[in-house]
Amino acid sequence: MSSHLNAVSIEDLRLKAKRKLPRCIFDFYDGGAEDELTLNANRQSFQNVMLTPRILRGVDKVDTRVDMLGETCGLPIAIAPTGALGYGKHGADLAIAKAAAAKGLIYTLSSSATTSIEHIAREAPGRHWFQAYILKNKDFFYSLIDRAQAAEYEGLMITVDLPVGGKRERDNKNKFAIPFKLNSRVALDFLAHPFWLGELIYNGMPVLENMVGLEGQNRGINHLASSVGRNYDPAFNWDDLKRIRDYWHKKLIIKGVMHPEDAVRLMEMGCDAVVVSNHGGRQLDTANSTLSALPTIVKAIDGKIPVLLDGGIRRGSDILKAIALGANGVLTGRATLFGAISSGQPGATHALNILQEELVRTMQLCGVSEINQITPELLFN
Ligand SMILES: Cc1cc2nc3c(=O)[nH]c(=O)nc-3n(C[C@H](O)[C@H](O)[C@H](O)COP(=O)(O)O)c2cc1C
Repeated sequence: MSSHLNAVSIEDLRLKAKRKLPRCIFDFYDGGAEDELTLNANRQSFQNVMLTPRILRGVDKVDTRVDMLGETCGLPIAIAPTGALGYGKHGADLAIAKAAAAKGLIYTLSSSATTSIEHIAREAPGRHWFQAYILKNKDFFYSLIDRAQAAEYEGLMITVDLPVGGKRERDNKNKFAIPFKLNSRVALDFLAHPFWLGELIYNGMPVLENMVGLEGQNRGINHLASSVGRNYDPAFNWDDLKRIRDYWHKKLIIKGVMHPEDAVRLMEMGCDAVVVSNHGGRQLDTANSTLSALPTIVKAIDGKIPVLLDGGIRRGSDILKAIALGANGVLTGRATLFGAISSGQPGATHALNILQEELVRTMQLCGVSEINQITPELLFN
């Protein structure tokens, strides 16, 4: 049996990824900002919510289909954008995109991915959103949007919780940088993981393919990863977002929303969905958990546009709890990331299968057989 199939939970896949990767790379994926209070709070919030099951409701057939921005998906799950995956495993972006497509789920490609917009569209046909950070170089930023349009991405996701990068102390302590800066500690870490190192040498150094050209080709593409952060635009504001709304005529999804007034303003300016997100605890440490932010946002939006949530989804029951509190669906970040890092597309598929199986089982044990039957009455308080 393939080793990823021994994993019975997302935590198992996380531990497999941990064993496989050099410490500094695992920490880059796993870690959060500063004291990691928000990273942990995302999980803790789900764990603090207990369920009150209903009984004798005939749950032999379970239907997990939902509407996701105008089309039916088999699960209330979409894939969150995650950058720099190629440093952990060659082809991990494509692996996740293919796993998502096979299940009919929406895949969001990060602008910091190690696979290009066009490559994903060509090799993993399915429903795609393209995620962009706001860059100081507006011509380059709009050229990315044009490329997503040309490649027929159906949605543009703008991430608004990153005017500047969060302070990730695991990376600082590990002296982790992209491109790698070799010192004796990093070199020993790499040498202790020969399979990972062999794959890297065989496939060559990954490149943030969508960012090629951002600082001019003359600096060489290997410098891109370290320079991308400097190119985020902290001056970005509501007027700039309005210009993007006017420019992009398909679905516009805003990720990184934590306050109901911001959510309402986004809805009023014509955004198609909001993602309640604190960037998986990687940006503002001590930001409240996404599950705790969800109810007031749901109330303010009042069903007029979809409200999605990410941050800490590791169990099928987490998905049920988010939906019970009003989310229309969730995004998975590290869950599918760890699957793909462990063993490529089969690993990403396995991560989705685990979440699916757990969601179905939790629904049955709660006495519900359709997503729209998941209501706050299932929550113990
Ligand atoms: C390694 C890593 C890279 C990420 N890269 C991006 C990115 O490029 N763009 C973005 O909007 N969010 C990015 N995120 C945040 C995710 O989209 C998502 O908000 C977060 O992972 C959700 O939390 P979870 O990992 O607990 O599911 C990244 C997260 C991780 C762990």
